[in-house]
Amino acid sequence: MKRAKIKDLLDRKEERQEVLVKGWVRTRRDSKGGFSFIELNDGSCLANIQVIAEHSLKNFLELDKQITTGSCMAITGKLVISQGKGQKMEIQSAGIELYGTADAETFPLQKKRHSFEYLREIAHLRPRTNTFGAVMRVRSRLAYAIHQFFNDRGFVYLNTPIITTSDCEGAGEMFQVTTLDPDCLPKVEGKIDYAQDFFGEKTSLTVSGQLEGEIYASALSDIYTFGPTFRAENSNTSRHLSEFWMVEPEMAFYDLDDDMDLAEEFIKYLFVDALENCSEDMEFFNQRIDKTIIETLQHIIDNQFERLTYTEAIQRLQKSKETFSYPVEWGCALQAEHERYLSEIVFKKPIIVFNYPEKIKSFYMKLNKDDKTVRAMDVLLPKLGEIIGGSQREENYDTLLKRMKDAGLDPKHYWWYLDLRRFGTAPHSGFGLGFERLVQFVTGMENIRDVIPFPRTPKHAHF
Ligand code: 4AD
Ligand code: MG
Repeated sequence: MKRAKIKDLLDRKEERQEVLVKGWVRTRRDSKGGFSFIELNDGSCLANIQVIAEHSLKNFLELDKQITTGSCMAITGKLVISQGKGQKMEIQSAGIELYGTADAETFPLQKKRHSFEYLREIAHLRPRTNTFGAVMRVRSRLAYAIHQFFNDRGFVYLNTPIITTSDCEGAGEMFQVTTLDPDCLPKVEGKIDYAQDFFGEKTSLTVSGQLEGEIYASALSDIYTFGPTFRAENSNTSRHLSEFWMVEPEMAFYDLDDDMDLAEEFIKYLFVDALENCSEDMEFFNQRIDKTIIETLQHIIDNQFERLTYTEAIQRLQKSKETFSYPVEWGCALQAEHERYLSEIVFKKPIIVFNYPEKIKSFYMKLNKDDKTVRAMDVLLPKLGEIIGGSQREENYDTLLKRMKDAGLDPKHYWWYLDLRRFGTAPHSGFGLGFERLVQFVTGMENIRDVIPFPRTPKHAHF
């Protein structure tokens, strides 16, 4: 007999003479009437299927002590409409085959709820909890919806390199990739001789696929990347990972307004998709993680994002009676507290801040006519803060060269990037969306470490 997934059985309306399910026992309850209730889960959905096992069953007494929380088994039986509360269908067991036991003394996931901090220490077992099952199903669905969104709009999915020689954000927060022996580095005139390294030059893990994305947008018009990104910044916050996934669309012939339109449409599309296609898991988050999450997502879907310039944002902040730990003046970077104040208190919805001072943004952003600001935009969500950063790109060769030099970058390393401005340059724009921040916002989870299977953060890459 072919194994059925629990989700498919729970969705059925008719009874079936014989079914086979396989999964892990979540709980077991014994009844005085000579039978036990076994709650079985196989991860196909949040709900368990209830199995009723008569103690008179052939090998039940033999297995009895091994049917414990965490054990793994295959169960055959009859699928029937449940007479009890809480489930539509249940299985009257006709046979049990035990695959793996889980000793009740040592298996950590017993009935009590564990803290997320503790669960991070058992990252190999936490997927077997309701919360992590739900988070990973939503994460997977969102990844699918991202591909669908861009595919439907004729974007080409592009894989940009993970090992790179350029620092896209120019912030120097890169993990180096080398096969040189740190205890015995080859040197020429006191400096490390990277000519002897694996690639013959200094290489790192990418912080963004944007620059390579621009190459392909300059030929295919609309592309997007969706891949792992690495940042060696020492940020120990609930919104930062050292290894995270980023979605980066890049579009020829888009100006900043087009870019902001796409970003807003994209976020709303993903929220709608999660509500429609992950309703069981979303109900769970709404009950157990954040009681306002469904309402919040719906409110965002139904309303326009507020768009304001950086200069307007600064004025708003200066006029407010709020005391901030970081003082506000034109030219300063917006801190999380400023971003949250604007989106949570002032506008009570997502905001897009654009036209930032040139000095606090990356070299590739298009300089405005005022010579002081660049066509950058950040999408900020209430509670979370920045989810998207993007810009129109500088397509003028001379201006870009000057911005690069001002930023202390060596144009020699970026000759190919400059070439895009020498041959058939085009106005173009793009943005990057942090995938884990998206999952975090949609699920209402407090900490970004709990929405990625294996979080990497400063001093933590164990597993
Ligand atoms: O704003 P960022 O640094 O922008 C770029 O990398 C551009 N090259 C994107 C582009 O225009 N193609 O990063 C983009 C997004 C942020 O808004 C945030 O959501 C996420 O990536 N992000 C992080 N997420 C988790 N952990 C970190 N350390 C992150 N750093 C950025
Ligand atoms: Mg940013």
